[in-house]
Amino acid sequence: MDSQTVRRKHNELTFAKANYYEEPIVLAEGKGARIRDLDGREYLDFFGGILTVSVGHANERVTEAVVAQARRLSHVSTLYPTVPLVELAEALIALAPGKLKRVFFTSSGTEADETAVTMAQVATGNMELIALRHGYSGRSTLAQALTAHSKYRPLPTQIASIKHAPAPYCYRCPFKLEHPSCGVACAKDLNELIATQTTGRVAGMLAEPIQGVGGFVTPPKEYFQIAAEIVRKHGGVFIADEVQTGFGRTGGKMWGIEQFGVEPDIMTMAKGIANGYPLGATIVTNEIAGAFKAATISTFGGNPVACAAGKAVLDEIREHDLLRNASERGAELRAGLEALQRKHPQTIGDVRGMGLMQALELVKDETTRDRTPNPAAVSRLFEETKARGLLIGRGGLHGNVVRISPMLNVTKDELAEGVRLLGEAFAGMEAK
Ligand SMILES: Cc1ncc(COP(=O)(O)O)c(C=O)c1O
Repeated sequence: MDSQTVRRKHNELTFAKANYYEEPIVLAEGKGARIRDLDGREYLDFFGGILTVSVGHANERVTEAVVAQARRLSHVSTLYPTVPLVELAEALIALAPGKLKRVFFTSSGTEADETAVTMAQVATGNMELIALRHGYSGRSTLAQALTAHSKYRPLPTQIASIKHAPAPYCYRCPFKLEHPSCGVACAKDLNELIATQTTGRVAGMLAEPIQGVGGFVTPPKEYFQIAAEIVRKHGGVFIADEVQTGFGRTGGKMWGIEQFGVEPDIMTMAKGIANGYPLGATIVTNEIAGAFKAATISTFGGNPVACAAGKAVLDEIREHDLLRNASERGAELRAGLEALQRKHPQTIGDVRGMGLMQALELVKDETTRDRTPNPAAVSRLFEETKARGLLIGRGGLHGNVVRISPMLNVTKDELAEGVRLLGEAFAGMEAK
């Protein structure tokens, strides 16, 4: 089948599409950081299927593990324990912060977050949840309600017990203050939020250490310590959604929340966990796990093939010291993006992120402090990067943020090549 036919059939046969580019790219095969479309065009992949292909396309170790497991046994459901499931559980718990000792596997980030919310409610006996504006939690009804982007909410929210706190979004500070003289007012506002909009007792707060879909919004270092303390003071638990920030993405540490010096009570993960095989996990303390008395199953949760892939990803991260690579290559990426900002001071309003999770926020004219979101520039940049063979991501409430997240094992040369292509795409865009 040729690419035009795929696009036409996709258009005619599926619904709720959200594809990048004026003409969507039909991807067909990949190896490492490179991916090819059905017409044979090659791209350097700096988005990894939304921060999911953590150790490269068709990674040998992952592929071997998947093929071997698929030959042995590919499905049992959560009704039966398997070797791959317990091996991955053991490895994850060994890496998880502090008191997180029990895991429940599902098959997506949405389900991992759903599970976390249920566990917080069951363990605390409280129902109300705090989430952050600009946050993203997935596509179930609950996850849509936790998500704070109107674009991702097809219906009015049907879950009343979720309250959205102002995001720690320094570039567009909700309080019009500057860090650090702000005293992290956004975190302290949680006291007011709980006092005015809840019963005064909450089940918890669910937050991404760095907001992914929100455009890599990176909170001040002290934000989560203050926030977690306030939430706990009001009877709640702190849930770190590591779906995007987990598995070394932020560089140097396994989990994004470790960059902020906070131990969560519950942690959720998916995406990068298994290099693209569908897997989600929720990790909780013994105490929280013990509070769950109902029955529950997940047909696909903890699928043995996905768990085998997950274990291979962890082995790959450890053996190749990918936390260090993410930190070193991340610093190079950041320096490249800052240099780009100096070249395009009007359009690039903000450079932010950590490790291999870096973003550019495009605005109308930063030189005159006109920070009107500029999604049109992102659309043009996407066409320019596509033409030059570079895949990047998009985010932000207004779609005006460029998200750049190469694989954890990206090489120095690939990184430099991607930064160069991005620079050429910017030049091409501004020349038009
Ligand atoms: C932080 C975060 N949480 C949860 C989800 C939902 O994950 P999934 O799409 O696997 O259901 C996403 C997906 O983008 C996410 O970025």
